[in-house]
Amino acid sequence: MRIDILTVLPELIESPLSHSIVRRARDKGLVTVNIVNIRDYTTDRHRTADDYPFGGDAGMVIKIEPVYKAIESLCSERDYDEIIYATPDGEPLTQSVVNELSLKKSLIILAGHYKGVDHRIREHLITREISIGDYVLSGGELPAAVITDAIVRVIPGAISDQQSALSDSFQDNLLAPPVYTRPAEFNGWRVPDILLGGNRPEIERWQMEQSIERTRRLRPDLMKE
Ligand code: ADE
Repeated sequence: MRIDILTVLPELIESPLSHSIVRRARDKGLVTVNIVNIRDYTTDRHRTADDYPFGGDAGMVIKIEPVYKAIESLCSERDYDEIIYATPDGEPLTQSVVNELSLKKSLIILAGHYKGVDHRIREHLITREISIGDYVLSGGELPAAVITDAIVRVIPGAISDQQSALSDSFQDNLLAPPVYTRPAEFNGWRVPDILLGGNRPEIERWQMEQSIERTRRLRPDLMKE
């Protein structure tokens, strides 16, 4: 799989995608993550990627030309399944959206910044708009990294035991059960006995009960789905 991320702030995206599971998936060749600096597609000496909004409002808007050229250049190399724009007014990112995107071959994710991107980009170039939650961040860079991380970790082979991505919270609309490690007792706080006994069928039954109880209590909305 290949994910190209377009941004005016590559530094903000590089680090979160250069460690841990995503880094290993990239090293193993399971995914190519290519971060593209929109400024590389500007033509003026100052590499200007933003401009004042028409209408006299405050703030700056990402210009259409460099974004168009960056997308055109990528699309001349290969077909893309989706050209995604990260925006708070997009479709909410859920595990099922993540799973669906993880089956695609090539994705572009555009991270906006400042007041947003020239709306013609959204009208004519973008195929899908995704929000990572009902709050506004300073730009789309962290959302683009979040979307990419969530996709990469469900690619088969990204996690050594694939079981462990499938048993994540939300994979079956259930929250994950609690996990513990040594020591079995700390400060008088004990790990549940069942986990120490080594009876796998019983442990799995307990984990399922915990998942259901936690989901009912913490996220009853998921139970209704
Ligand atoms: N850009 C700024 N805030 C965002 C959000 N919540 N989701 C996606 N992109 C964003």
